[in-house]
Amino acid sequence: MLTIHNLEKRYKTGDRALKGVSLTLAPGDIVGLIGPSGAGKSTLIRCVNRLVDPTSGTIKLFDLDLTNLSGGDLRKARRRIGMIFQEYALVERLTVMENVLSGRLGYVGFWQSWLRRFPEADVARAFALLGRVGLTEFVDKRADALSGGQRQRVGIARALAQEPELLLVDEPTASLDPKTSRQVMRLILELCAERKLAAIVNIHDVVLAQMFLPRIVGLRAGEVVYDGPAAGLNAEVLTRIYGEEDWAKTSTNEEANDTVAPIPIASTLERRNAAMAGP
Ligand SMILES: Nc1ncnc2c1ncn2[C@@H]1O[C@H](COP(=O)(O)OP(=O)(O)OP(=O)(O)O)[C@@H](O)[C@H]1O
Ligand SMILES: [Mg+2]
Repeated sequence: MLTIHNLEKRYKTGDRALKGVSLTLAPGDIVGLIGPSGAGKSTLIRCVNRLVDPTSGTIKLFDLDLTNLSGGDLRKARRRIGMIFQEYALVERLTVMENVLSGRLGYVGFWQSWLRRFPEADVARAFALLGRVGLTEFVDKRADALSGGQRQRVGIARALAQEPELLLVDEPTASLDPKTSRQVMRLILELCAERKLAAIVNIHDVVLAQMFLPRIVGLRAGEVVYDGPAAGLNAEVLTRIYGEEDWAKTSTNEEANDTVAPIPIASTLERRNAAMAGP
């Protein structure tokens, strides 16, 4: 359903963020995208919904070439692609319900949305979604009164409100504690399965990726260096993706590493601690 072929992105600064990336997703495929900081993970998913314009190569959603779209055609195509962000990207002063309804903005007319008049069916759909993500009691709360985990649930409901075929997820758990991270990942995976959605989940936490994502794509310096099952992430593959490190306690692949309990890599722990400590 998604075919990325030989994708290149060179930013104006001269950075070659993507150097000929090819990747194919079948309907319902869930892919974990991992790689060191600066590898091009965000650039790749941003090229797919055209928040970033690729320099060359093609991206096809079924038969539709996303790389050449503009104006109304691009807007229409974007409805088919939901996005979930690390920092949630909610409108702070709006309620949970209003934030979820903003996922319908690609469908309602400008004045209609400006006056915040959404069709009843949209409101009913948003209400059902908020129930599904466990936020029924919070519909009228302002976004800035929610915890990180609750905010991400709003972000998930908003992305699904647009009824996408493909979900792009950029580090959904980077600002969350370990338990909430697992709950959010589980929720995303369940919703994808229920709706037969394909998804690309860009994620720093290798252990979490292995736990929830069946297929892993490893990016390094703008190139795909691994595309295979999560179980194949052994020390050799992790070194190919991230470089030399003692990977013995990271991989959940026991055969390859002779280890029992998976322990997150240091950088992930540091990020979590920083996130949990707050500003
Ligand atoms: N808007 C931009 N202008 C110029 N260069 C950029 C821009 N965005 C990203 N880059 C560069 O492109 C490369 C890939 O960045 P990208 O954000 O895609 O990496 P990433 O894998 O998502 O990293 P992280 O894990 O830190 O989020 C980096 O060298 C980065 O500096
Ligand atoms: Mg990124």
